Amino acid sequence: MAKVTFRFEEGEPVVTYATEGERLLEVAQKSNVPIDAPCSGNASCGKCRVRLVSGELDSKITRHISEEEYQNGWRLACVSTVKGDVEVEVPDIASAYRSRMKVADLSSPSEIAIFEDTKKKITDAGLELKNSMQVITISMEEPTLDDTMPDNERVTWAVQAATGLERVRIPYSVLKKMPDVLRESHFQAQCVVRVTANDVFLYDMLPMEAKAVVGGLVVDIGTTTVSALIVDMLSGEILAKASSGNGQIRYGADVINRIIESQKPGGHERLQNAIIKETLNPMISNMCRAAKISSQQIYRAAIAGNTTMEHLMMGINADPLRMEPYIPAFFKTNSLFASDVNLAIHPDAHIILAPNIGSYVGGDITAGALVSMIWNRPEMSLFIDLGTNGELAFGNSDFMVSCACSAGPAFEGGDISCGMRATDGAIEKCTIDPETMEPSYHVIGDEG
Ligand code: FES
Repeated sequence: MAKVTFRFEEGEPVVTYATEGERLLEVAQKSNVPIDAPCSGNASCGKCRVRLVSGELDSKITRHISEEEYQNGWRLACVSTVKGDVEVEVPDIASAYRSRMKVADLSSPSEIAIFEDTKKKITDAGLELKNSMQVITISMEEPTLDDTMPDNERVTWAVQAATGLERVRIPYSVLKKMPDVLRESHFQAQCVVRVTANDVFLYDMLPMEAKAVVGGLVVDIGTTTVSALIVDMLSGEILAKASSGNGQIRYGADVINRIIESQKPGGHERLQNAIIKETLNPMISNMCRAAKISSQQIYRAAIAGNTTMEHLMMGINADPLRMEPYIPAFFKTNSLFASDVNLAIHPDAHIILAPNIGSYVGGDITAGALVSMIWNRPEMSLFIDLGTNGELAFGNSDFMVSCACSAGPAFEGGDISCGMRATDGAIEKCTIDPETMEPSYHVIGDEG
């Protein structure tokens, strides 16, 4: 085994071991060392540069590394194999996508105005914004030697009386805390419930003095960027927000390269972990800290993403999406719960996935088309999602058509010399002074 040391401009080095002949990019990925690899190791993007500090690598010469750069130690990690003990430096630019991705500020007045305006337009269009989650208060007689009914039956009776519904479902998570909560609160309690026409599902039981918050998680999983909110499902207030790079990005910039990676041994698990454990769960934890609530107080989640992102997030084989006739495992599904995918919220939280409408036109477009209200206008509109996977939806209140293509590589530096992602060093905006005609630009990462 050879000792492989990854050094960074900042932070502790990562030391790992690899067998001779192993590709450096794969060694890095196995060790959670973030090296930008938009082409998924196909030697076409030229972004996976590392600098050889000591030892030896077997590296192919490619057009992406000049003779002078090669002499200075620069190599592409995807065409370099380990020959013996080696030490390489991973430049900051390669890991920048992770920490400094330019993301939307969802708390700005203009963003909040968009949310409020959308809510109004949806209700004006006759769609009812309804919520089946609520908090009820129940009160019971305390047990005695003459009244030895078990706690769960006592609670069931009380919930039946409070809601008028016969069927009350109590999951293990509530049963587990029930004896303590009831005795602490002298057999009075607040219950977080979902009430439908047929039954009541008891999500949580809290002492009377506890602050009951019914949190809802909202997530947009982009191929490159992930945005999320926690909302108070009773008031509609936004409690916290977060954005992050998609942790899957080190396995490929676009959906096709991610699917190819998922087909390698352990690939499904790696990609699912990258989005759930490395991206969503830390975002949820940060948002809960900011909102001062427990992650267990998030009782429902709504997630939108393109068809591939939804499959990979669920750990479902997405390979048929890549091959003719391009068939997904599902367009919509109603049977996903947080515990199924280890999402760190209440284990019984129902995850509502925005429905996909095509193999490459996913739930993010369905959600976007819905809230942009273009389906409710007589005039023609064009909805454009210019993401890594780019989609268009066109139409009006009578009809709608859509299509998709891979837009990211055109802008994000896949196999071109001047493009890059919206991270440090990228030009964010250009302006021309109308008086003086003086041009100016702003670069992400620059002050001011
Ligand atoms: S050139 Fe190495 S990952 Fe693209």
